[in-house]
Amino acid sequence: MLEIRDLHSFYGDAHVLHGASLDVRPREVVALLGRNGMGKTSLIRSVMGLSTPQVRGGSVAWKGEAITGLRAHEVAERKIALVPQGRRLFPSLTVTEHLTMLKPARNAASWTVERVFSLFPRLAERRNNRGNQLSGGERGMLAVGRALMLDPELILMDEPSEGLAPVMVQHLEGVIAGLKAEGLGILLVEQNLYSALAVADRVYVLETGRVVFEADAAAVAADPDRLTRYLGVH
Ligand SMILES: Nc1ncnc2c1ncn2[C@@H]1O[C@H](COP(=O)(O)OP(=O)(O)OP(=O)(O)O)[C@@H](O)[C@H]1O
Ligand SMILES: [Mg+2]
Repeated sequence: MLEIRDLHSFYGDAHVLHGASLDVRPREVVALLGRNGMGKTSLIRSVMGLSTPQVRGGSVAWKGEAITGLRAHEVAERKIALVPQGRRLFPSLTVTEHLTMLKPARNAASWTVERVFSLFPRLAERRNNRGNQLSGGERGMLAVGRALMLDPELILMDEPSEGLAPVMVQHLEGVIAGLKAEGLGILLVEQNLYSALAVADRVYVLETGRVVFEADAAAVAADPDRLTRYLGVH
């Protein structure tokens, strides 16, 4: 469904992706792991067509169509949504305004504000709070809710559990499992190996801009030592 091949990306002269390749197949949750600064966010931003980093080699295909070099809005039109690392909300807009501002009016969408609120009841309670009046965890939920309002077929989630309390991490795992059951594909950047294994079908590890490890999540769960040496955890 998503095929990333030999991607090379740069911030100015700094070469940060060195031929990264990975796939997300239909209805699959794929975890992208790796230590800080290894290129996870850069990979996701490259797929999304954001202005940085700049893609200078390789290809991204989505449902058989080359989307390399498309602008971010053109990628979003193809129903690929991003939950950005660090959330990037608008300080002065309310929760409800964040959820409604992106709504493409043209399709009979399956996602509504009320459906997002039923998924994240905490957001419903905070619906009139502004972006700068939300906790870190609430910002994370809102970032996921905003992505869903685009009715995506694929969501790129960049550390959605960052800053969430353990009970909310579990809730998010349930949300991800529910989205997968509805047929969405998910590429999930996750620092926590065990949280990733709880939801992922397959796992990739990125090291200095290259995929250095790839396996089924079940195989990793059975023998995590194969993977933990890449992550610097024990
Ligand atoms: N805007 C930027 N300009 C220049 N270099 C950048 C920029 N953003 C990231 N980098 C560099 O690119 C490399 C990859 O960074 P990236 O943010 O993709 O890592 P990451 O795997 O997402 O890390 P983390 O787990 O900390 O989020 C790092 O060496 C980083 O310093
Ligand atoms: Mg990152």
